[in-house]
Amino acid sequence: MTEYILITGASSGIGYEMAQLLAAKKFNLILVARSIDKLRKMQEELSKKHGVEVQCFQTDLSDVKSTQELYESIKDNGWRVSHLVNNAGFGDYGSFLETSLEKELDMINLNISSLMMLTKLFAQDMATRKSGRIMNVASLLSFIPLPYYSVYAATKTFVLAFSETIAAELEGTGVVVTTLCPGIVETPFHTPDMRKTNAMSANKPMQAIDVAEAGVKLLLHGRGKKVVGFNNWFISNLPRVTPDSIMMKIKKNLASVKA
Ligand SMILES: NC(=O)c1ccc[n+]([C@@H]2O[C@H](COP(=O)([O-])OP(=O)(O)OC[C@H]3O[C@@H](n4cnc5c(N)ncnc54)[C@H](OP(=O)(O)O)[C@@H]3O)[C@@H](O)[C@H]2O)c1
Repeated sequence: MTEYILITGASSGIGYEMAQLLAAKKFNLILVARSIDKLRKMQEELSKKHGVEVQCFQTDLSDVKSTQELYESIKDNGWRVSHLVNNAGFGDYGSFLETSLEKELDMINLNISSLMMLTKLFAQDMATRKSGRIMNVASLLSFIPLPYYSVYAATKTFVLAFSETIAAELEGTGVVVTTLCPGIVETPFHTPDMRKTNAMSANKPMQAIDVAEAGVKLLLHGRGKKVVGFNNWFISNLPRVTPDSIMMKIKKNLASVKA
């Protein structure tokens, strides 16, 4: 049975770079996103360049029925997922009273529901085989939820809590669950409004390739969680040693639009 690494959100940003790195290491890939043209181009290039098998799926993971169908298609084809990377996700910025409810429900379906479903379905198969690795992509906002990112930050808090709890449950089963927590990364993730915030100007964004390198290391060999970059690690620990009232001021300042 051919083994694959499945990457969601492989058409762009961190997922795209992880696909490049893993193909270069000779792993077969299942790539998932909505932009099928981009995935097909990657399929052609990566299989030609590295001699690996690449499958692609056009799936909208904000629709949980499609997520279930994705899992069933992979099973029907007889492909084995040895590693799962739940990377697809999107965010939004704005006053909670004004942001789009429809967008937020899609975000919860993508960032939480589909991530949880794929983790459950593939973890069950991996546990039966006593072997497998799952990496979920959370965020620095999992530690320091910023105002105006309310629903997005909460989805990423879910991802970290969920991944850490099941990592503990699955210890000793052969299934390893890890969590990648990037800070600000230069990708199409950021909306024009996000780019105007103090958080964006206060921190030099990391490059997607550098975050992908940390991700590949964590996926293949790591344990627990990885906050990528020393500055981000430092910021992630601030709430532990800073009074809530001061933390709230820092968070509001970071999330504000620069003057
Ligand atoms: N960039 C940052 O600063 C940052 C920081 C912390 C955490 N993260 C997290 O890192 C992960 C990757 O983000 P990125 O920065 O690489 O952003 P990106 O370049 O915008 O990539 C997002 C990926 O998710 C896919 N995607 C979006 N909606 C989807 C849907 N409904 N169904 C299936 N696929 C979908 C996109 O493909 P299609 O549009 O083709 O579907 C794309 O491949 C996300 O989980 C994000 O929350 C990013």
